[in-house]
Amino acid sequence: MTETRKPIISGNWKMHHNHFEAIQTVQKLHYRLENDDFDLVDVSVHPPFTDIRSVQTVIEADRMKIELGAQNCFFEEKGPFTGEVSPTMLAKLDVKLVIIGHSERRQFFGDTDEWVNKKLKAVLGNGMIPILCCGETLEEREAGQAESKVDSQIRSGLDGLIPDHVSDMVIAYEPIWAIGTGKTATSGDAQMMCAKVRSVVADVYGNDVAQSVRIQYGGSVKPGNIVELMNQADIDGALVGGASLDADEFAAIVQFNQH
Ligand code: 13P
Repeated sequence: MTETRKPIISGNWKMHHNHFEAIQTVQKLHYRLENDDFDLVDVSVHPPFTDIRSVQTVIEADRMKIELGAQNCFFEEKGPFTGEVSPTMLAKLDVKLVIIGHSERRQFFGDTDEWVNKKLKAVLGNGMIPILCCGETLEEREAGQAESKVDSQIRSGLDGLIPDHVSDMVIAYEPIWAIGTGKTATSGDAQMMCAKVRSVVADVYGNDVAQSVRIQYGGSVKPGNIVELMNQADIDGALVGGASLDADEFAAIVQFNQH
């Protein structure tokens, strides 16, 4: 983390919390956080699609500074795409950030690098900010391919984007072997990979863009490891799964400055 990039901590709820539980969680999070927290850190929650309208309503009614996010979207605006949700629909619900290319989407739902690129363009075209996910499997890490995997995911993901869009976006490095396993990358490994991501952005878009893009680490982030992760120069935030489902635990992560 450097002084120039505002940290961003995002809660990816995955397929957890129905809309009643989502309202309770976001209200509790709001009460646990202070106004000052939002001066220091951007905070977003990414509920399942069925919760988004409910969460939008409470965020608006209580003028919360928590930002509303989504976990995915399709790249077309409308059409015969049964089961899909368009970026236009999300933008209409005041969604600000959309996670794109999460490893679970790539692994279980067939999201390819080409689709990830199209989705990024669609999210940006609708005035929202994408969180582009990248990361290697355990086999790739053990074969010494972690850096080359992330390098190619970032290059193909960002293909054809304009520099201003890349400056504003968020990239999440999430080693797949650390997701939901309780195994966190060491802060040194996480830093090395986030620095790698930034160097790829610099290579394609130049140093100014690379210095402004915010890079999150994701994979078993908890209140007990967030401080060390945030102390790394190229880690500007966290994409939190399991620990974001509980408002107290997530608030403790957001308030990493106070530990
Ligand atoms: P966990 O924090 O549960 O490991 O999940 C990480 C993740 O995949 C966030 O997108």
